[in-house]
Amino acid sequence: MGKGFRVIMVRFFPLVYDMAMRPIEGMGLRLLRQQLLESARGEVLEIGSGTGVNYPFYHSVERVIAVEPDRGMLERSRKKNSLFSEQLILVQADAQFLPFADNTFDTVVACLVFCTISDPFLALQELQRVLKPDGFLLALEHVRIKNSWVSALQDGLTPLWKHLAGGCHLNRDTVSLIRKAGFQIQYFSSYGGGLFVKLKAQSGGVLVC
Ligand SMILES: C[S@@+](CC[C@H](N)C(=O)[O-])C[C@H]1O[C@@H](n2cnc3c(N)ncnc32)[C@H](O)[C@@H]1O
Repeated sequence: MGKGFRVIMVRFFPLVYDMAMRPIEGMGLRLLRQQLLESARGEVLEIGSGTGVNYPFYHSVERVIAVEPDRGMLERSRKKNSLFSEQLILVQADAQFLPFADNTFDTVVACLVFCTISDPFLALQELQRVLKPDGFLLALEHVRIKNSWVSALQDGLTPLWKHLAGGCHLNRDTVSLIRKAGFQIQYFSSYGGGLFVKLKAQSGGVLVC
């Protein structure tokens, strides 16, 4: 795949993201986001906030800091930000190297983002660092399915798909990574035959490397 094509796709992705996601949001993803974010509390960090789809679902929180490395995504979410709360702060940053002190956040939110981060384990370690000891992670992710032919398909499609979809890997075993990073999963549910997972995980576990 040529470098020029990859650059075009990176610029194009933020422009089409909301439109491309609309059917799947309507099929139930929006409801899952809403259910997930009901548990958000206190000082919240959302990583890879994209175009800001989650903003309307934050209630009962003190403040949300939303980090997103892609300028195109950030600009789109800035427009939506003016429609929502003054307690929402947008920061251009990478979840693998967060510009926040240790033990800062009560809740970290990650939606459809560990599929895209280059080193999701590094990001998870960062989340452990910035979460307070009694803080928790709320995640809604698509993951590798535990079925040999579907997971083989996910493996086969990922090399092309990641160039078309902003770096998204279809085949990440994100739940195992979350556990490996020391989070303790408190609740977990899966949807779409195991393609999507929604979970809450407590920080402060011991790292299993
Ligand atoms: C599939 S989009 C999901 C956007 C949004 N969270 C949602 O639920 O619609 C993945 C997002 O992760 C962001 N991302 C990629 N690498 C990242 C990183 N290292 N740190 C934080 N966000 C990252 C992308 O820029 C993109 O906005």
